[in-house]
Amino acid sequence: MKRACILGAGFYVPEKIITNFDLEKKLDTTDEWISQRTGIKQRRQASKDEPTSDLGVKAALNALKNSNIKKEEIDFVITATVTGDYPWPATANIITDKLGLNGVPSLDVSAACTGFIYALAVAKSFVESNMYKKVLVIGAEEFTKIVNWSDRATCVLFGDGAGAVIVGETENENCGILSTYLGSDGSKAELLFQPAGGVVHPLNREILEKELQYVKMDGKEVYKSAVFKMQEALEIAVKNSGFTINDIDFFIFHQANKRIIDSISQKLNIPEEKNIVNVDKYANTSAATIPIALAEAMESGKIKKGMLLGLSAMGGGFTWGAAVVRL
Ligand code: UT7
Repeated sequence: MKRACILGAGFYVPEKIITNFDLEKKLDTTDEWISQRTGIKQRRQASKDEPTSDLGVKAALNALKNSNIKKEEIDFVITATVTGDYPWPATANIITDKLGLNGVPSLDVSAACTGFIYALAVAKSFVESNMYKKVLVIGAEEFTKIVNWSDRATCVLFGDGAGAVIVGETENENCGILSTYLGSDGSKAELLFQPAGGVVHPLNREILEKELQYVKMDGKEVYKSAVFKMQEALEIAVKNSGFTINDIDFFIFHQANKRIIDSISQKLNIPEEKNIVNVDKYANTSAATIPIALAEAMESGKIKKGMLLGLSAMGGGFTWGAAVVRL
C-alpha cells in the first residue's frame, strides 16, 4: 500500500489585529477576563474584500513554496471550513480556480473546529488508495464575519486565518500519516452552531431581527466536551499508531482556549515544551488552528522532519478527531 505523508505546510493570517484592549472600548469586557479565561490576547480580522478563499489561496501558496512543490502537481483540493465564501458552491472550488488549477476536483469538509483532521483523513485515504497523488488540504475560516460583535460571550473568542498542507505519497518509510481517528454526535448540534442560513431558518427579515445568523455557543458544555473528547481521541489515535503518548515528540491541540490545552496536558503528563500555544495571537480560527500551528512550528524550527506528532481537535457538530503523523 502507498504511504501518505505531510510534505510541507504554510499559513496566512490577515494583517489587521484586534487586541483585547480594542474590545474593552466597545464591549463590557476586559483584557484580564479574556486573558485569564482563554489565554487570548489578540485576533486577526480579514477585511470586507478579503473572503475566506483569499486566505486559503495565500496559505496554499505558502505551503507549496515551503514544500518545493509546483501547483500543477496538485490533483485534488480539500478545504475545511464552516465560514465559506457562499453557502455553496464549495470554497474549495473557488480556491482551486483562484490557484489557476481549474479542472482539478475539489470539495469542502464541514466539521467546524475538527475540519482539518477530517480533511487530513480524507486526503490520506485518497493517496493511499492511489486515487490521487498530491492533495492540497486547507483549513480556512473567517469567524469574525459570523459572530455577533455585541455578544461578549462569543465574539472575543474567534479570529480569522488559514493554514495548508500538501499530503502526498512517499517512499520514505519514516514518514507518514500513521493513524487518524474521527467521531461525531449530532444530538449536540445546538450547543455550538450557526442557526440561520440553511433551510431550517432561511435568511429573512424576521430571522435577522432575532439575530439567528450569528454563532451561538453554550461555552461551559463545549469546554467540558473539548477537554474530554480531545484527550480521548488523541489516546485512541496514538494507540492505533502503535506508539504511546510518551513516544510523541510534539502535540498540536486545537487552539480554542489555553485552559483546555493545559488541562489535557496535565492529565496526560505532557511537558510544556512539547506543546504549541498560539491562541494568544490568533484566538480560535476553527478548522485553521491546527494547520496554522503546524506551519508556524515548522517555520520556527520547533518541529523538524522525522518528529512524531499528535494532533487533536473538537468542535461544533459535535465533532472530534485526532491524528498521529511522522513528518
Ligand atoms: O473550538 C471549540 C469551541 N470552543 C471552545 O472550545 C470554547 C469552550 N468554552 C470556553 O472556552 C469557555 O467556556 C468560555 C471562555 C467561553 C467561557 O469561560 P467560562 O469560565 O466557562 O465562563 P462563563 O461562560 O461561565 O462566564 C462566567 C462569567 C459570566 O458572568 P456571571 O454569570 O458569572 O455573572 C459571564 O457573563 O463571565 C461573564 N462573561 C464575560 N465577562 C467579561 C462571559 N464572557 C465575558 C467577557 N468578558 N467576554
